[in-house]
Amino acid sequence: MGRVLEVVDINTFYGRSHVLFDVNLSVEEGQTVCLMGRNGAGKTTTFRSIIGLNPPRNGDIRFKGISCRRLPPYKIARMGIGFVPEDRRILDRLTVRENLELGHIPGRKGEWDLEKIIDYFPILKDLQDRVGGTLSGGEQQILAIARALMGNPDLLLLDEPSEGLAPVIVAFLKDFVLKLKESKTTILLSEQNVRFASAVSDWVVVIDKGHVVFSGSIDEFQASEDVKKKYLAV
Ligand SMILES: Nc1ncnc2c1ncn2[C@@H]1O[C@H](COP(=O)(O)OP(=O)(O)O)[C@@H](O)[C@H]1O
Ligand SMILES: [Mg+2]
Repeated sequence: MGRVLEVVDINTFYGRSHVLFDVNLSVEEGQTVCLMGRNGAGKTTTFRSIIGLNPPRNGDIRFKGISCRRLPPYKIARMGIGFVPEDRRILDRLTVRENLELGHIPGRKGEWDLEKIIDYFPILKDLQDRVGGTLSGGEQQILAIARALMGNPDLLLLDEPSEGLAPVIVAFLKDFVLKLKESKTTILLSEQNVRFASAVSDWVVVIDKGHVVFSGSIDEFQASEDVKKKYLAV
């Protein structure tokens, strides 16, 4: 198994405001890694650093062994990093099928296309002719993830997928992500929901005020009551 992503000692700023401090993390092929931390900890900024929207001032980001720290977002997307933002960005007036088609990235080939995705996730088959604006929050989140899959990413970034969803919907999203994992997709997600994160992740990195304060297997994380108490709202 290869290392898909390596984030090495990155420091990221918004103007003069220093937000990430020597952040390190890596993701192995086929793994699901979860970046956990409270509101404002630096989860979204880490993702924006990786995808080129807020490049770090120093340190390095290597994707499949190639440094992508200085590349523009569209090139990083074409290299195979898919990104599902916190606000999902589903188009209200387009159908589920049409929203999915927007996820296609020219030049990226792989096992996923519209028909395969709809076949693999029965929920999308049921929803395919609905327009985006009529979907529930949970359905929109699932559609946003599936749309990113249309670009056949080698790494999928999910920024707080369970945010704002009712517990019963989070359980439903969990089953969707577990099915996605069965397809061997490599995932880096961010979360505050410990139960959801624990159910889907292999490895956990905890960030607090822009510093990585814990990195360990899901079992080590589960056993670290002090980490959960100190850095997460548990
Ligand atoms: N566009 C921005 N300009 C300035 N500061 C920002 C901006 N976006 C986020 N921040 C700050 O960066 C820190 C990390 O934010 P963020 O990465 O969004 O955290 P998280 O996703 O973990 O909630 C916070 O202190 C936040 O206020
Ligand atoms: Mg965020």
